[in-house]
Amino acid sequence: MKIIEVKDYTEMSLKAAEYIIEKVCQNPKIKLGLATGGTPVGTYKKLIEDYQENGTSYRNVTTFNLDEYIGLSGENKNSYRYFMDVQLFNHIDINKNNTFVPQGNSKDVEEECLRYESLIVKNGGVDLQILGIGSNGHIGFNEPGTAFSSQTHVIELAPSTIKANARYFNRIEEVPTKAITMGISTIMKSKEILLLVSGETKKEAMSRLLNGNITEGFPASALKNHPYVTIIAEKSAVSGL
Ligand code: GLP
Repeated sequence: MKIIEVKDYTEMSLKAAEYIIEKVCQNPKIKLGLATGGTPVGTYKKLIEDYQENGTSYRNVTTFNLDEYIGLSGENKNSYRYFMDVQLFNHIDINKNNTFVPQGNSKDVEEECLRYESLIVKNGGVDLQILGIGSNGHIGFNEPGTAFSSQTHVIELAPSTIKANARYFNRIEEVPTKAITMGISTIMKSKEILLLVSGETKKEAMSRLLNGNITEGFPASALKNHPYVTIIAEKSAVSGL
């Protein structure tokens, strides 16, 4: 794992965007794996700015998001489909038909997991996966204890995740308790991974990632088995580790 330490959120966002833009320019048909949460918002902003200023095109790019809450339709403001549309897709020239997010309001969520996993495979897999990290070490919504062999599946959210994500909802009771997420093995199959880490609240998780063992008890530790991981981390999350 290569670590790039940056001074603050703005620098993390800029570096991450530059990284992604370079990959898109090298391969205009790139398959990007995308993440939600507060961490990548600044990166998406920079991608939009670059699109407006330099015209980097996403016309032939395909995207797969990591996860989606169960029970929320794409029109729901708290759904990750809505997040992606508002934070990125509505502002660049990507073909929305080529942007995929698991459907959280599917009648048969187990079936949806199989469909999503095979959709990724059919498209040749993810070239570059963007990741954030939960303070308990989750990646996507793979909570501690998730098998490293897991593919896209339904997960029960950890109480700490529900609490952390409640800030986006009116009331904590509105946070869905389940989600569909790419599995650890789905994530590990991507050719390259870019992990973004922002803020002091992630320091303990980073300490475990950098200094701890590889264990299913700490999902992000699987990344140590991946040959091509770059971490762009704010100083406050990694200094002194
Ligand atoms: C969320 C998402 C993850 C994200 C993580 C951290 O629950 N499912 O994909 O990386 O938690 O979120 P944030 O970036 O807001 O700290």
